[in-house]
Amino acid sequence: MTTVRSISLVEFMSHERTHLELPNTGIVLVTGENGSGKSALVEGVATAFWGETLRGTLPWRAGMPGDAQVETDELVVTRSITKGGKKSLSWTRPPANAEEWESTTKAQEALERVVGSFDVWRRCSVFSSQDAAHFTLATDGERKRMLEEILGIDRFDAALTRCRADVAVNNGKVGKLEREAATLSAALDAAAQRTKDAAAALALEPEPQPVVDIEARRARAAASYKATRAALADTEALIEQLSSTGSDIAAEIRAAKARMEKLERARCGECGQAIPVELVEEQRKALVELRIRADAGTEMNAAMIADSRERVAELRADADELRTRIAEMDSALSISGEARKRRAHHQAAIGAAQRTWTQARLDAEKVAGNLAAAKVEGANLEAVEKVLGLRGVRAMLLGRSLSGIEDAANAWLDRIAGEGLRLHLKPYTEKKTGGTSEAISLEVEGAGGGYGYRAASAGQRRRIDVALLFALAEVAAAARGVAGGTLWIDECFDGLDDDGLGAVAACLEDVARDRAVIVISHRPELARLLPTVAHYDIADGRVCTLQH
Ligand SMILES: Nc1ncnc2c1ncn2[C@@H]1O[C@H](COP(=O)(O)OP(=O)(O)OP(=O)(O)O)[C@@H](O)[C@H]1O
Ligand SMILES: [Mg+2]
Repeated sequence: MTTVRSISLVEFMSHERTHLELPNTGIVLVTGENGSGKSALVEGVATAFWGETLRGTLPWRAGMPGDAQVETDELVVTRSITKGGKKSLSWTRPPANAEEWESTTKAQEALERVVGSFDVWRRCSVFSSQDAAHFTLATDGERKRMLEEILGIDRFDAALTRCRADVAVNNGKVGKLEREAATLSAALDAAAQRTKDAAAALALEPEPQPVVDIEARRARAAASYKATRAALADTEALIEQLSSTGSDIAAEIRAAKARMEKLERARCGECGQAIPVELVEEQRKALVELRIRADAGTEMNAAMIADSRERVAELRADADELRTRIAEMDSALSISGEARKRRAHHQAAIGAAQRTWTQARLDAEKVAGNLAAAKVEGANLEAVEKVLGLRGVRAMLLGRSLSGIEDAANAWLDRIAGEGLRLHLKPYTEKKTGGTSEAISLEVEGAGGGYGYRAASAGQRRRIDVALLFALAEVAAAARGVAGGTLWIDECFDGLDDDGLGAVAACLEDVARDRAVIVISHRPELARLLPTVAHYDIADGRVCTLQH
Protein backbone atom coordinates (compact mmCIF):
# COMPACT_ATOMS: atom_id res chain seq x y z
CA MET A 1 0.00 0.00 0.00
CA THR A 2 3.05 2.12 -0.38
CA THR A 3 3.50 4.81 -2.97
CA VAL A 4 6.96 4.49 -4.48
CA ARG A 5 8.50 7.82 -5.48
CA SER A 6 11.83 6.64 -6.83
CA ILE A 7 13.84 3.49 -7.50
CA SER A 8 17.64 3.37 -7.68
CA LEU A 9 19.31 0.17 -8.73
CA VAL A 10 23.06 -0.47 -8.75
CA GLU A 11 24.40 -3.72 -10.22
CA PHE A 12 20.94 -5.20 -9.93
CA MET A 13 19.87 -7.83 -12.47
CA SER A 14 20.40 -6.22 -15.88
CA HIS A 15 20.79 -2.73 -14.37
CA GLU A 16 24.22 -1.27 -13.79
CA ARG A 17 23.09 2.05 -12.44
CA THR A 18 19.45 3.10 -12.83
CA HIS A 19 17.43 5.86 -11.23
CA LEU A 20 13.73 6.24 -11.89
CA GLU A 21 11.32 8.87 -10.53
CA LEU A 22 7.64 7.93 -10.16
CA PRO A 23 4.52 10.05 -9.58
CA ASN A 24 1.82 9.81 -6.89
CA THR A 25 -0.95 9.19 -9.38
CA GLY A 26 -1.33 8.53 -13.12
CA ILE A 27 -0.18 5.85 -15.52
CA VAL A 28 3.55 5.33 -16.11
CA LEU A 29 4.42 3.09 -19.05
CA VAL A 30 7.67 1.12 -18.97
CA THR A 31 8.59 -0.56 -22.22
CA GLY A 32 11.61 -2.44 -23.50
CA GLU A 33 12.58 -5.67 -25.16
CA ASN A 34 12.44 -9.04 -23.49
CA GLY A 35 15.12 -9.27 -20.83
CA SER A 36 15.89 -5.54 -20.90
CA GLY A 37 15.16 -5.05 -17.19
CA LYS A 38 11.49 -3.94 -16.94
CA SER A 39 10.30 -6.47 -14.38
CA ALA A 40 13.60 -5.83 -12.58
CA LEU A 41 12.03 -2.54 -11.39
CA VAL A 42 9.30 -4.44 -9.52
CA GLU A 43 11.96 -6.83 -8.24
CA GLY A 44 13.85 -3.76 -7.02
CA VAL A 45 10.91 -2.77 -4.82
CA ALA A 46 10.48 -6.36 -3.56
CA THR A 47 14.19 -6.60 -2.79
CA ALA A 48 14.49 -3.22 -1.05
CA PHE A 49 11.40 -3.71 1.13
CA TRP A 50 11.40 -7.44 1.81
CA GLY A 51 14.71 -8.87 0.60
CA GLU A 52 12.77 -11.14 -1.77
CA THR A 53 11.94 -11.34 -5.48
CA LEU A 54 8.70 -12.32 -7.14
CA ARG A 55 10.54 -14.91 -9.19
CA GLY A 56 12.28 -16.28 -6.08
CA THR A 57 15.86 -15.94 -7.37
CA LEU A 58 18.67 -13.62 -6.28
CA PRO A 59 18.69 -10.31 -8.16
CA TRP A 60 22.31 -9.49 -7.37
CA ARG A 61 25.06 -9.82 -9.91
CA ALA A 62 27.53 -12.49 -8.95
CA GLY A 63 30.60 -11.18 -7.06
CA MET A 64 29.55 -7.54 -7.28
CA PRO A 65 28.44 -5.11 -4.61
CA GLY A 66 24.92 -3.86 -5.32
CA ASP A 67 22.11 -1.68 -4.00
CA ALA A 68 18.36 -1.43 -4.37
CA GLN A 69 17.06 1.80 -2.93
CA VAL A 70 13.40 2.78 -2.82
CA GLU A 71 12.04 6.10 -1.68
CA THR A 72 8.45 6.62 -0.61
CA ASP A 73 6.80 9.76 0.75
CA GLU A 74 7.80 8.60 4.23
CA LEU A 75 10.80 6.30 3.94
CA VAL A 76 14.13 5.70 2.28
CA VAL A 77 14.91 2.00 2.25
CA THR A 78 18.23 0.60 1.07
CA ARG A 79 19.07 -3.07 0.68
CA SER A 80 22.70 -3.75 -0.18
CA ILE A 81 25.05 -6.57 -0.82
CA THR A 82 28.83 -6.42 -0.52
CA LYS A 83 31.28 -7.95 -2.95
CA GLY A 84 31.67 -10.78 -0.43
CA GLY A 85 27.91 -11.39 -0.47
CA LYS A 86 27.06 -9.80 2.90
CA LYS A 87 23.56 -8.36 2.78
CA SER A 88 22.27 -5.45 4.81
CA LEU A 89 19.15 -3.36 5.28
CA SER A 90 18.94 0.23 6.39
CA TRP A 91 15.89 2.40 6.40
CA THR A 92 15.00 5.76 7.72
CA ARG A 93 12.19 8.28 7.90
CA PRO A 94 13.80 11.53 6.70
CA PRO A 95 14.79 13.87 8.18
CA ALA A 96 15.58 11.42 11.02
CA ASN A 97 18.89 9.59 10.81
CA ALA A 98 18.87 5.90 10.01
CA GLU A 99 17.97 3.94 13.08
CA GLU A 100 20.37 1.36 14.44
CA TRP A 101 18.74 -2.06 14.72
CA GLU A 102 19.99 -4.99 16.77
CA SER A 103 19.75 -7.26 13.76
CA THR A 104 18.50 -7.32 10.16
CA THR A 105 15.51 -9.38 11.37
CA LYS A 106 14.53 -6.65 13.83
CA ALA A 107 15.00 -3.95 11.17
CA GLN A 108 12.87 -6.03 8.77
CA GLU A 109 10.09 -6.51 11.33
CA ALA A 110 9.98 -2.79 12.05
CA LEU A 111 9.94 -1.98 8.34
CA GLU A 112 7.08 -4.42 7.69
CA ARG A 113 5.03 -2.66 10.34
CA VAL A 114 5.16 0.33 7.98
CA VAL A 115 5.05 -1.23 4.49
CA GLY A 116 3.07 -4.43 5.26
CA SER A 117 4.03 -7.96 4.26
CA PHE A 118 5.52 -9.15 1.01
CA ASP A 119 2.59 -11.46 0.31
CA VAL A 120 -0.05 -8.79 0.76
CA TRP A 121 1.86 -6.38 -1.47
CA ARG A 122 2.31 -9.11 -4.04
CA ARG A 123 -1.42 -9.94 -4.13
CA CYS A 124 -2.79 -6.43 -3.93
CA SER A 125 -0.26 -4.18 -5.62
CA VAL A 126 1.35 -6.31 -8.30
CA PHE A 127 -0.11 -7.91 -11.34
CA SER A 128 2.64 -9.95 -12.90
CA SER A 129 2.27 -12.56 -15.58
CA GLN A 130 3.83 -15.11 -13.19
CA ASP A 131 1.50 -14.21 -10.38
CA ALA A 132 -1.71 -13.32 -12.21
CA ALA A 133 -3.52 -16.54 -11.58
CA HIS A 134 -2.17 -17.03 -8.11
CA PHE A 135 -5.50 -16.35 -6.45
CA THR A 136 -7.71 -17.97 -9.03
CA LEU A 137 -5.61 -21.13 -9.33
CA ALA A 138 -5.03 -21.51 -5.59
CA THR A 139 -6.84 -24.27 -3.74
CA ASP A 140 -9.93 -23.16 -1.82
CA GLY A 141 -8.02 -23.48 1.46
CA GLU A 142 -5.03 -21.46 0.19
CA ARG A 143 -7.42 -18.82 -1.08
CA LYS A 144 -8.86 -18.47 2.40
CA ARG A 145 -5.40 -18.01 3.92
CA MET A 146 -4.45 -15.46 1.21
CA LEU A 147 -7.61 -13.49 1.79
CA GLU A 148 -7.19 -13.54 5.55
CA GLU A 149 -3.71 -12.15 5.10
CA ILE A 150 -4.80 -9.54 2.57
CA LEU A 151 -7.55 -8.39 4.90
CA GLY A 152 -5.28 -8.47 7.93
CA ILE A 153 -7.46 -11.15 9.54
CA ASP A 154 -4.34 -13.28 9.96
CA ARG A 155 -3.52 -11.01 12.88
CA PHE A 156 -6.25 -12.90 14.69
CA ASP A 157 -4.04 -15.99 14.49
CA ALA A 158 -1.33 -14.40 16.62
CA ALA A 159 -3.95 -13.11 19.04
CA LEU A 160 -5.65 -16.51 19.06
CA THR A 161 -2.35 -18.29 19.75
CA ARG A 162 -1.65 -15.91 22.63
CA CYS A 163 -5.20 -16.32 23.89
CA ARG A 164 -4.92 -20.12 23.77
CA ALA A 165 -1.62 -19.95 25.66
CA ASP A 166 -3.37 -17.73 28.25
CA VAL A 167 -6.24 -20.23 28.43
CA ALA A 168 -3.74 -23.06 29.05
CA VAL A 169 -1.93 -21.05 31.75
CA ASN A 170 -5.25 -20.14 33.36
CA ASN A 171 -6.48 -23.75 33.23
CA GLY A 172 -3.26 -24.77 34.99
CA LYS A 173 -3.91 -22.09 37.60
CA VAL A 174 -7.52 -23.23 38.07
CA GLY A 175 -6.34 -26.86 38.46
CA LYS A 176 -3.70 -25.86 41.02
CA LEU A 177 -6.20 -23.76 42.97
CA GLU A 178 -8.76 -26.59 42.89
CA ARG A 179 -6.15 -28.98 44.30
CA GLU A 180 -5.26 -26.42 46.97
CA ALA A 181 -8.95 -25.97 47.81
CA ALA A 182 -9.38 -29.77 48.13
CA THR A 183 -6.30 -30.01 50.40
CA LEU A 184 -7.59 -27.16 52.56
CA SER A 185 -11.06 -28.69 52.75
CA ALA A 186 -9.48 -31.98 53.96
CA ALA A 187 -7.39 -29.99 56.48
CA LEU A 188 -10.57 -28.26 57.71
CA ASP A 189 -12.33 -31.62 58.15
CA ALA A 190 -9.30 -33.08 59.94
CA ALA A 191 -9.02 -30.06 62.27
CA ALA A 192 -12.77 -30.22 63.03
CA GLN A 193 -12.42 -33.95 63.76
CA ARG A 194 -9.43 -33.32 66.07
CA THR A 195 -11.44 -30.65 67.94
CA LYS A 196 -14.33 -33.10 68.30
CA ASP A 197 -12.08 -35.94 69.52
CA ALA A 198 -10.29 -33.75 72.06
CA ALA A 199 -13.62 -32.32 73.31
CA ALA A 200 -14.99 -35.88 73.72
CA ALA A 201 -11.84 -36.93 75.63
CA LEU A 202 -12.19 -33.83 77.81
CA ALA A 203 -15.82 -34.64 78.52
CA LEU A 204 -14.75 -38.10 79.78
CA GLU A 205 -12.33 -36.60 82.33
CA PRO A 206 -13.98 -36.15 85.81
CA GLU A 207 -14.24 -32.60 86.99
CA PRO A 208 -11.34 -32.35 89.53
CA GLN A 209 -12.13 -31.10 93.10
CA PRO A 210 -10.88 -27.66 93.80
CA VAL A 211 -7.33 -28.21 95.05
CA VAL A 212 -7.65 -25.25 97.41
CA ASP A 213 -10.25 -27.16 99.51
CA ILE A 214 -8.11 -30.27 99.78
CA GLU A 215 -5.04 -28.25 100.60
CA ALA A 216 -6.88 -26.38 103.39
CA ARG A 217 -8.21 -29.63 104.84
CA ARG A 218 -4.76 -31.19 104.64
CA ALA A 219 -3.24 -28.20 106.44
CA ARG A 220 -5.83 -28.55 109.20
CA ALA A 221 -5.22 -32.31 109.51
CA ALA A 222 -1.46 -31.73 109.59
CA ALA A 223 -1.91 -29.18 112.38
CA SER A 224 -4.10 -31.66 114.32
CA TYR A 225 -1.54 -34.40 113.80
CA LYS A 226 1.19 -32.14 115.10
CA ALA A 227 -0.92 -31.24 118.15
CA THR A 228 -1.77 -34.91 118.74
CA ARG A 229 1.90 -35.87 118.55
CA ALA A 230 2.75 -33.12 121.02
CA ALA A 231 0.00 -34.26 123.40
CA LEU A 232 1.25 -37.84 123.04
CA ALA A 233 4.80 -36.78 123.90
CA ASP A 234 3.49 -34.81 126.94
CA THR A 235 1.43 -37.76 128.17
CA GLU A 236 4.34 -40.16 127.76
CA ALA A 237 6.54 -37.71 129.67
CA LEU A 238 3.88 -37.62 132.41
CA ILE A 239 3.85 -41.42 132.65
CA GLU A 240 7.63 -41.33 132.94
CA GLN A 241 7.38 -38.71 135.63
CA LEU A 242 4.66 -40.62 137.54
CA SER A 243 6.70 -43.81 137.36
CA SER A 244 9.74 -42.04 138.82
CA THR A 245 7.59 -40.46 141.58
CA GLY A 246 6.51 -44.01 142.64
CA SER A 247 10.16 -45.06 142.95
CA ASP A 248 10.94 -41.92 145.05
CA ILE A 249 8.26 -42.94 147.58
CA ALA A 250 9.63 -46.46 147.69
CA ALA A 251 13.13 -45.05 148.34
CA GLU A 252 11.78 -42.85 151.12
CA ILE A 253 10.11 -45.89 152.73
CA ARG A 254 13.29 -47.89 152.41
CA ALA A 255 15.23 -45.04 154.13
CA ALA A 256 12.60 -44.84 156.94
CA LYS A 257 12.81 -48.62 157.34
CA ALA A 258 16.56 -48.46 157.62
CA ARG A 259 16.29 -45.74 160.20
CA MET A 260 13.78 -47.89 162.17
CA GLU A 261 16.06 -50.88 162.05
CA LYS A 262 18.87 -48.72 163.31
CA LEU A 263 16.65 -47.42 166.14
CA GLU A 264 15.44 -50.90 167.01
CA ARG A 265 18.98 -52.03 167.57
CA ALA A 266 18.74 -49.44 170.42
CA ARG A 267 22.26 -48.26 170.30
CA CYS A 268 23.82 -45.85 168.07
CA GLY A 269 26.14 -47.68 165.72
CA GLU A 270 28.48 -44.77 165.79
CA CYS A 271 28.58 -43.64 169.42
CA GLY A 272 27.24 -46.87 171.10
CA GLN A 273 24.71 -44.98 173.29
CA ALA A 274 21.19 -46.46 173.79
CA ILE A 275 18.41 -44.88 171.63
CA PRO A 276 15.67 -43.28 173.66
CA VAL A 277 12.35 -45.23 173.44
CA GLU A 278 10.36 -42.07 172.65
CA LEU A 279 12.49 -41.45 169.65
CA VAL A 280 12.00 -45.01 168.43
CA GLU A 281 8.26 -44.71 168.93
CA GLU A 282 8.21 -41.43 167.11
CA GLN A 283 10.11 -42.99 164.27
CA ARG A 284 7.71 -45.91 164.17
CA LYS A 285 4.73 -43.58 163.99
CA ALA A 286 6.46 -41.60 161.28
CA LEU A 287 7.12 -44.83 159.36
CA VAL A 288 3.50 -45.91 159.67
CA GLU A 289 2.33 -42.49 158.47
CA LEU A 290 4.83 -42.65 155.67
CA ARG A 291 3.54 -46.06 154.69
CA ILE A 292 -0.05 -44.85 154.74
CA ARG A 293 0.94 -41.84 152.63
CA ALA A 294 3.04 -44.00 150.35
CA ASP A 295 0.24 -46.47 149.87
CA ALA A 296 -2.17 -43.61 149.03
CA GLY A 297 0.41 -41.97 146.71
CA THR A 298 1.25 -45.24 144.99
CA GLU A 299 -2.43 -45.94 144.41
CA MET A 300 -3.01 -42.49 142.98
CA ASN A 301 0.12 -42.73 140.89
CA ALA A 302 -0.92 -46.06 139.46
CA ALA A 303 -4.36 -44.66 138.66
CA MET A 304 -2.82 -41.63 136.92
CA ILE A 305 -0.38 -43.80 135.02
CA ALA A 306 -3.25 -46.03 133.92
CA ASP A 307 -5.25 -42.98 132.78
CA SER A 308 -2.25 -41.59 130.98
CA ARG A 309 -1.64 -44.90 129.24
CA GLU A 310 -5.23 -44.90 128.07
CA ARG A 311 -4.74 -41.36 126.84
CA VAL A 312 -1.55 -42.38 125.04
CA ALA A 313 -3.43 -45.18 123.27
CA GLU A 314 -6.20 -42.75 122.25
CA LEU A 315 -3.69 -40.18 121.06
CA ARG A 316 -1.83 -42.83 119.05
CA ALA A 317 -5.06 -43.92 117.41
CA ASP A 318 -5.88 -40.27 116.62
CA ALA A 319 -2.36 -39.73 115.18
CA ASP A 320 -2.67 -42.88 113.05
CA GLU A 321 -6.05 -41.80 111.74
CA LEU A 322 -4.74 -38.33 110.99
CA ARG A 323 -1.75 -39.81 109.15
CA THR A 324 -4.06 -41.96 107.09
CA ARG A 325 -6.23 -38.96 106.26
CA ILE A 326 -3.21 -36.86 105.31
CA ALA A 327 -1.96 -39.68 103.06
CA GLU A 328 -5.40 -39.90 101.45
CA MET A 329 -5.45 -36.16 100.87
CA ASP A 330 -1.93 -36.30 99.40
CA SER A 331 -3.09 -39.02 97.03
CA ALA A 332 -6.20 -36.98 96.15
CA LEU A 333 -3.98 -33.98 95.46
CA SER A 334 -1.72 -36.09 93.23
CA ILE A 335 -4.71 -37.63 91.37
CA SER A 336 -6.22 -34.20 90.88
CA GLY A 337 -2.87 -32.96 89.50
CA GLU A 338 -2.81 -35.81 86.95
CA ALA A 339 -6.42 -35.14 85.96
CA ARG A 340 -5.66 -31.48 85.59
CA LYS A 341 -2.65 -32.30 83.40
CA ARG A 342 -4.82 -34.52 81.18
CA ARG A 343 -7.53 -31.88 80.95
CA ALA A 344 -4.92 -29.25 80.12
CA HIS A 345 -3.56 -31.58 77.42
CA HIS A 346 -7.03 -32.04 75.89
CA GLN A 347 -7.73 -28.32 76.10
CA ALA A 348 -4.38 -27.56 74.41
CA ALA A 349 -5.28 -30.07 71.68
CA ILE A 350 -8.66 -28.34 71.20
CA GLY A 351 -6.95 -24.94 71.04
CA ALA A 352 -4.35 -26.12 68.51
CA ALA A 353 -6.98 -27.82 66.34
CA GLN A 354 -9.16 -24.69 66.43
CA ARG A 355 -6.23 -22.48 65.46
CA THR A 356 -5.39 -24.83 62.58
CA TRP A 357 -9.03 -24.78 61.53
CA THR A 358 -9.21 -20.97 61.62
CA GLN A 359 -6.01 -20.64 59.56
CA ALA A 360 -7.23 -23.29 57.09
CA ARG A 361 -10.57 -21.43 56.87
CA LEU A 362 -8.77 -18.14 56.05
CA ASP A 363 -6.55 -19.89 53.49
CA ALA A 364 -9.59 -21.65 52.01
CA GLU A 365 -11.43 -18.33 51.66
CA LYS A 366 -8.42 -16.80 49.94
CA VAL A 367 -8.07 -19.78 47.59
CA ALA A 368 -11.82 -19.75 46.91
CA GLY A 369 -11.55 -16.04 45.98
CA ASN A 370 -8.58 -16.69 43.69
CA LEU A 371 -10.33 -19.69 42.19
CA ALA A 372 -13.47 -17.69 41.48
CA ALA A 373 -11.35 -14.94 39.87
CA ALA A 374 -9.43 -17.53 37.80
CA LYS A 375 -12.71 -19.07 36.66
CA VAL A 376 -14.06 -15.68 35.63
CA GLU A 377 -10.78 -15.06 33.79
CA GLY A 378 -11.14 -18.50 32.18
CA ALA A 379 -14.69 -17.73 31.06
CA ASN A 380 -13.52 -14.38 29.63
CA LEU A 381 -10.61 -16.02 27.84
CA GLU A 382 -12.89 -18.67 26.41
CA ALA A 383 -15.23 -15.96 25.16
CA VAL A 384 -12.26 -14.14 23.59
CA GLU A 385 -11.04 -17.44 22.12
CA LYS A 386 -14.44 -17.97 20.54
CA VAL A 387 -14.48 -14.45 19.11
CA LEU A 388 -10.94 -14.84 17.73
CA GLY A 389 -11.57 -18.39 16.58
CA LEU A 390 -12.56 -19.57 13.17
CA ARG A 391 -16.26 -19.25 13.79
CA GLY A 392 -16.14 -15.88 15.53
CA VAL A 393 -15.57 -12.39 14.30
CA ARG A 394 -13.03 -13.44 11.71
CA ALA A 395 -15.61 -15.64 9.96
CA MET A 396 -17.99 -12.71 9.93
CA LEU A 397 -15.30 -10.33 8.64
CA LEU A 398 -14.24 -12.77 5.98
CA GLY A 399 -17.83 -13.35 4.93
CA ARG A 400 -18.49 -9.64 4.61
CA SER A 401 -15.20 -8.93 2.85
CA LEU A 402 -15.89 -11.76 0.49
CA SER A 403 -19.14 -10.28 -0.70
CA GLY A 404 -17.31 -6.92 -1.01
CA ILE A 405 -14.60 -8.52 -3.16
CA GLU A 406 -17.22 -10.34 -5.21
CA ASP A 407 -19.20 -7.15 -5.83
CA ALA A 408 -16.06 -5.15 -6.69
CA ALA A 409 -14.68 -7.90 -8.96
CA ASN A 410 -18.03 -8.22 -10.77
CA ALA A 411 -18.21 -4.47 -11.19
CA TRP A 412 -14.73 -4.52 -12.83
CA LEU A 413 -15.73 -7.59 -14.86
CA ASP A 414 -18.78 -5.75 -16.14
CA ARG A 415 -16.41 -3.15 -17.53
CA ILE A 416 -13.71 -5.40 -18.97
CA ALA A 417 -15.75 -8.42 -20.06
CA GLY A 418 -19.35 -7.34 -20.34
CA GLU A 419 -22.19 -8.64 -18.24
CA GLY A 420 -21.82 -12.25 -19.35
CA LEU A 421 -18.95 -13.06 -17.04
CA ARG A 422 -19.50 -13.23 -13.28
CA LEU A 423 -17.62 -14.46 -10.25
CA HIS A 424 -19.04 -16.05 -7.15
CA LEU A 425 -17.00 -16.25 -3.96
CA LYS A 426 -18.37 -18.35 -1.13
CA PRO A 427 -16.89 -18.53 2.39
CA TYR A 428 -17.25 -22.30 2.36
CA THR A 429 -16.66 -25.13 -0.02
CA GLU A 430 -19.12 -27.91 -0.64
CA LYS A 431 -17.38 -31.22 -0.15
CA LYS A 432 -17.92 -34.06 -2.60
CA THR A 433 -18.71 -36.29 0.36
CA GLY A 434 -21.39 -33.85 1.51
CA GLY A 435 -21.21 -31.03 4.05
CA THR A 436 -18.98 -27.99 3.77
CA SER A 437 -15.44 -27.00 4.71
CA GLU A 438 -14.14 -23.60 5.65
CA ALA A 439 -12.42 -22.67 2.43
CA ILE A 440 -13.21 -20.03 -0.13
CA SER A 441 -14.68 -21.38 -3.31
CA LEU A 442 -14.52 -19.44 -6.54
CA GLU A 443 -17.12 -20.11 -9.15
CA VAL A 444 -17.17 -18.63 -12.61
CA GLU A 445 -20.41 -17.98 -14.42
CA GLY A 446 -20.47 -17.31 -18.17
CA ALA A 447 -17.18 -19.08 -19.05
CA GLY A 448 -15.65 -22.56 -18.90
CA GLY A 449 -18.99 -24.27 -19.46
CA GLY A 450 -19.54 -24.74 -15.76
CA TYR A 451 -16.06 -26.25 -15.22
CA GLY A 452 -14.65 -23.16 -13.55
CA TYR A 453 -11.70 -20.85 -14.07
CA ARG A 454 -9.39 -23.45 -15.56
CA ALA A 455 -11.85 -24.18 -18.35
CA ALA A 456 -12.15 -20.50 -19.33
CA SER A 457 -10.19 -19.11 -22.31
CA ALA A 458 -6.85 -17.32 -21.78
CA GLY A 459 -8.47 -13.94 -22.47
CA GLN A 460 -11.36 -14.68 -20.11
CA ARG A 461 -8.93 -15.83 -17.43
CA ARG A 462 -6.88 -12.65 -17.86
CA ARG A 463 -10.04 -10.53 -17.50
CA ILE A 464 -11.02 -12.41 -14.33
CA ASP A 465 -7.46 -12.01 -12.94
CA VAL A 466 -7.41 -8.26 -13.60
CA ALA A 467 -10.88 -7.80 -12.10
CA LEU A 468 -9.89 -9.80 -9.02
CA LEU A 469 -6.62 -7.85 -8.64
CA PHE A 470 -8.48 -4.55 -8.69
CA ALA A 471 -11.10 -5.84 -6.28
CA LEU A 472 -8.52 -7.29 -3.89
CA ALA A 473 -6.49 -4.08 -4.00
CA GLU A 474 -9.59 -2.02 -3.21
CA VAL A 475 -10.76 -4.25 -0.37
CA ALA A 476 -7.27 -4.59 1.11
CA ALA A 477 -6.82 -0.82 1.11
CA ALA A 478 -10.25 -0.37 2.69
CA ALA A 479 -9.62 -3.10 5.30
CA ARG A 480 -6.35 -1.49 6.33
CA GLY A 481 -7.63 2.04 6.10
CA VAL A 482 -4.79 3.12 3.79
CA ALA A 483 -4.57 4.49 0.26
CA GLY A 484 -3.82 2.03 -2.51
CA GLY A 485 -0.21 2.97 -3.21
CA THR A 486 1.67 2.23 -6.41
CA LEU A 487 0.11 -0.50 -8.56
CA TRP A 488 2.50 -2.56 -10.72
CA ILE A 489 0.96 -4.10 -13.83
CA ASP A 490 3.50 -6.34 -15.53
CA GLU A 491 2.32 -7.76 -18.87
CA CYS A 492 -1.37 -7.96 -18.16
CA PHE A 493 -2.52 -7.52 -21.71
CA ASP A 494 -1.46 -10.94 -22.98
CA GLY A 495 -4.34 -12.85 -24.45
CA LEU A 496 -6.67 -9.85 -24.60
CA ASP A 497 -8.40 -8.88 -27.80
CA ASP A 498 -8.82 -5.27 -28.85
CA ASP A 499 -12.05 -4.93 -26.88
CA GLY A 500 -10.41 -6.40 -23.79
CA LEU A 501 -7.37 -4.20 -24.23
CA GLY A 502 -9.54 -1.08 -24.50
CA ALA A 503 -11.66 -2.06 -21.53
CA VAL A 504 -8.67 -2.82 -19.28
CA ALA A 505 -6.96 0.40 -20.42
CA ALA A 506 -10.07 2.38 -19.46
CA CYS A 507 -10.13 0.66 -16.07
CA LEU A 508 -6.45 1.44 -15.51
CA GLU A 509 -7.16 5.06 -16.35
CA ASP A 510 -9.86 5.09 -13.67
CA VAL A 511 -7.61 3.40 -11.09
CA ALA A 512 -4.77 5.80 -11.90
CA ARG A 513 -6.86 8.75 -10.81
CA ASP A 514 -6.13 7.81 -7.16
CA ARG A 515 -2.81 6.00 -7.39
CA ALA A 516 0.22 5.53 -9.60
CA VAL A 517 -0.15 2.64 -12.01
CA ILE A 518 3.11 1.37 -13.51
CA VAL A 519 2.29 -0.54 -16.68
CA ILE A 520 5.16 -2.76 -17.84
CA SER A 521 5.01 -4.16 -21.35
CA HIS A 522 7.25 -5.12 -24.23
CA ARG A 523 4.69 -3.49 -26.55
CA PRO A 524 5.59 0.19 -27.06
CA GLU A 525 2.36 0.79 -29.05
CA LEU A 526 0.51 0.79 -25.72
CA ALA A 527 1.69 4.37 -25.42
CA ARG A 528 -0.99 5.25 -27.97
CA LEU A 529 -3.71 3.44 -26.02
CA LEU A 530 -2.91 4.62 -22.50
CA PRO A 531 -3.09 8.20 -21.20
CA THR A 532 0.36 8.08 -19.56
CA VAL A 533 2.03 10.71 -17.40
CA ALA A 534 5.45 9.22 -18.16
CA HIS A 535 6.93 6.67 -20.58
CA TYR A 536 10.29 5.07 -19.88
CA ASP A 537 11.96 2.76 -22.33
CA ILE A 538 14.63 0.38 -21.10
CA ALA A 539 17.38 -0.90 -23.34
CA ASP A 540 20.33 -2.89 -22.04
CA GLY A 541 19.58 -2.00 -18.46
CA ARG A 542 19.51 1.73 -19.16
CA VAL A 543 16.42 3.86 -18.75
CA CYS A 544 15.52 6.33 -21.40
CA THR A 545 12.78 8.83 -20.72
CA LEU A 546 10.51 9.04 -23.71
CA GLN A 547 7.90 11.33 -22.29
CA HIS A 548 7.46 13.09 -18.96
N1 LIG B 1 20.98 -12.13 -10.65
C1 LIG B 1 21.02 -11.69 -11.86
N2 LIG B 1 22.16 -11.15 -12.36
C2 LIG B 1 22.21 -10.68 -13.56
N3 LIG B 1 21.19 -10.70 -14.40
C3 LIG B 1 20.04 -11.22 -14.00
C4 LIG B 1 19.89 -11.72 -12.71
N4 LIG B 1 18.63 -12.18 -12.59
C5 LIG B 1 17.99 -11.96 -13.74
N5 LIG B 1 18.83 -11.37 -14.61
C6 LIG B 1 18.56 -10.90 -15.95
O1 LIG B 1 18.07 -9.60 -15.87
C7 LIG B 1 17.44 -9.29 -17.06
C8 LIG B 1 16.22 -8.47 -16.82
O2 LIG B 1 15.15 -9.29 -16.44
P1 LIG B 1 13.69 -8.76 -16.39
O3 LIG B 1 12.83 -9.79 -15.85
O4 LIG B 1 13.68 -7.44 -15.79
O5 LIG B 1 13.38 -8.65 -17.96
P2 LIG B 1 12.14 -7.94 -18.59
O6 LIG B 1 12.58 -6.69 -19.17
O7 LIG B 1 11.02 -7.91 -17.68
O8 LIG B 1 11.85 -8.99 -19.78
P3 LIG B 1 10.48 -9.62 -20.30
O9 LIG B 1 9.92 -8.68 -21.26
O10 LIG B 1 10.93 -10.86 -20.94
O11 LIG B 1 9.63 -9.86 -19.12
C9 LIG B 1 17.19 -10.60 -17.73
O12 LIG B 1 18.06 -10.75 -18.84
C10 LIG B 1 17.52 -11.63 -16.72
O13 LIG B 1 18.01 -12.83 -17.31
MG1 LIG C 1 9.25 -8.93 -17.45
